[in-house]
Amino acid sequence: MEKIAIIGAGNIGEALIAALVGAGTDPQTIVATNRSAERSQQLADRYGIETAEDNRQAATDADMVVLCVKPAQVPDLLDEIGEVIAAADVHTVIVSMAAGVTLTTMEEVVPAAGAPIVRVMANTPMLVGKGVLAVAYGRYVANDQREAVREVLATAGHVVEVEESQLSAVTALSGSGPAYYFLLTEALIDAGVSLGLPRDLASELARATAAGAGAMLEQKSDPVALRAGVSSPAGTTVAAIRELEESGLRGAVYRATEACSKRADELSQR
Ligand SMILES: NC(=O)c1ccc[n+]([C@@H]2O[C@H](COP(=O)([O-])OP(=O)(O)OC[C@H]3O[C@@H](n4cnc5c(N)ncnc54)[C@H](OP(=O)(O)O)[C@@H]3O)[C@@H](O)[C@H]2O)c1
Repeated sequence: MEKIAIIGAGNIGEALIAALVGAGTDPQTIVATNRSAERSQQLADRYGIETAEDNRQAATDADMVVLCVKPAQVPDLLDEIGEVIAAADVHTVIVSMAAGVTLTTMEEVVPAAGAPIVRVMANTPMLVGKGVLAVAYGRYVANDQREAVREVLATAGHVVEVEESQLSAVTALSGSGPAYYFLLTEALIDAGVSLGLPRDLASELARATAAGAGAMLEQKSDPVALRAGVSSPAGTTVAAIRELEESGLRGAVYRATEACSKRADELSQR
C-alpha cells in the first residue's frame, strides 16, 4: 500500500499506527491528522510517520483512509474529505472505526457513487496489539480492498468478518467484553481482600490469573473442557462454580449482553 491516512490519531488511531509500524509498515506511507499540531509532532517523533494539518490533504490519493474520530464527528469529516476521495486517482477505501455509524449513513454522505466503505467494531485490547476487530464491508468494497483492510487491521489483533446486522451482538461480546472481564477481576480482588489477603497480593493474583486463563483460551481450547479440567469431584472449584451458577452468573451474562446489544441498536439509529 502506498499511502494510508489515519484521520484523528487519538487512542485508537495511535494504536493502529503503533501496530502498523511494529509490523514493519514503512512509516513514510502513513499520514496522520489531528486537531492539535503538538499531538501530530509527538506522533511524528514517536513513529517517524508523516503528519498533515489538513484532512483533505491527508486523504488525497490515499489507498486507505481510516477514520478514528468520535462517532458524532464522522458525517462532518466525510463531508470534508468526500470530494477529494471522489476525485482521487486511486480507488480509496474508507474504514470507519467509529461505533454506531452505519454504512448507509456514511455512503449517503460521500459524494462518489459506489464509494467503498468498511465499518469496524474494535475493542480496547487493540491498544496492546491484542484487539478483536470485527469488520463489516459495504457493498462497493472490492476483493483486493477487503484483503488490504484485513492485513492492516490484523497488525492490531484478531480480525473477524461479520455482517453489519451482527454488529450490535458483536458489540455485546467483543466490543464491551473487556469491561466484563475487568469487572470480574475487580470483584475477585475485593473478594480476596474479604478473605483476608492484602489488596496488593489479591490484585496480583487476580490479574495474573486472568492473563493465564486468557492465554489458555487463546489456544482455541473449549472453555467447557478447560473448566472441567480444573473441577475435581467434590473439590474446591466445583464448590465455587455451584455458588456462581446458583447466584445467576449465566443469566446475568444473557441479560447484560441483551442490554448492550439493545443500546448499540439505539445508538446506531440516532
Ligand atoms: N477507545 C476505545 O476503546 C474504542 C474502542 C473501539 C472503537 N472506538 C472508536 O474509535 C474512535 C476513536 O476513539 P478514541 O478513543 O481513539 O478517541 P480519541 O482518543 O478522542 O481520538 C479522537 C481523535 O480525533 C481527533 N479529531 C477530532 N476531530 C478531528 C478532525 N475534524 N480532524 C482530525 N482529527 C480530529 C481528536 O483530536 P482532539 O483531541 O484535538 O479533539 C483526537 O485526537 C471512536 O469513534 C470510537 O467509537 C474506540
